[in-house]
Amino acid sequence: MTRRPVHILGFNSTHDASAALLRDGTVVCAVEEERFSRQKHHYGFPTRAIAACLETGGISFPDLDHAAFYWNPHEGLLPFAGHVLRNLPKSLAYFDHQPGILRRFLGLPRLLRREHGFRGRFHFLSHHRNHLASAFWPSGFPEAAALSVDGTGEWATTILARIPAGGRPEILAETSYPHSVGKLWEAVTQHLGFKPNSGEGTTDGQGSALTDSSASSVRPGSPKPP
Ligand SMILES: [Fe+2]
Repeated sequence: MTRRPVHILGFNSTHDASAALLRDGTVVCAVEEERFSRQKHHYGFPTRAIAACLETGGISFPDLDHAAFYWNPHEGLLPFAGHVLRNLPKSLAYFDHQPGILRRFLGLPRLLRREHGFRGRFHFLSHHRNHLASAFWPSGFPEAAALSVDGTGEWATTILARIPAGGRPEILAETSYPHSVGKLWEAVTQHLGFKPNSGEGTTDGQGSALTDSSASSVRPGSPKPP
């Protein structure tokens, strides 16, 4: 009897919405929603990216064994609540910024089952561990030290880990919100006139072209590249 391959769908559903399909650990398809919507850094559920992955793999939702989401909404809730309470009323602005995001995330397993016929196991994955895995597994190293630096994860902003053979990371150190190199990078991006969570790559690209003398002339609203 031939063994049935294991299919895993990975996806996110905030900025840069995207999806990937793995068959027995090999990437069959990976695509961003913006390729279909023509909206740069598309925000929302990646309906068409998932459809494209399934079509490329020649399968449909009920054939999936696992669905993995890039964020674990159960993590970081307690420190987040403490942060909101300590910083009232300013912290209420967070809820205007991303209204209903927690409820939307928590409703994803149901959405996949009810509206798409998904029958496999759903996994909420820790954000930084995803970054570590996406660097470690394609690297070819049998073991590694790995650093994930982000704006935020569920609460941690930077994680240093040792990844032994087998790939289960051991967290050695972490920094938590609001202490964040990534947020500083977002702030510099915004200061220069680009959108945060959007123009960071442009800030990076321009930064690599700066000399000592041109760096001192960087001002908000500096000319943007074509
Ligand atoms: Fe991230």
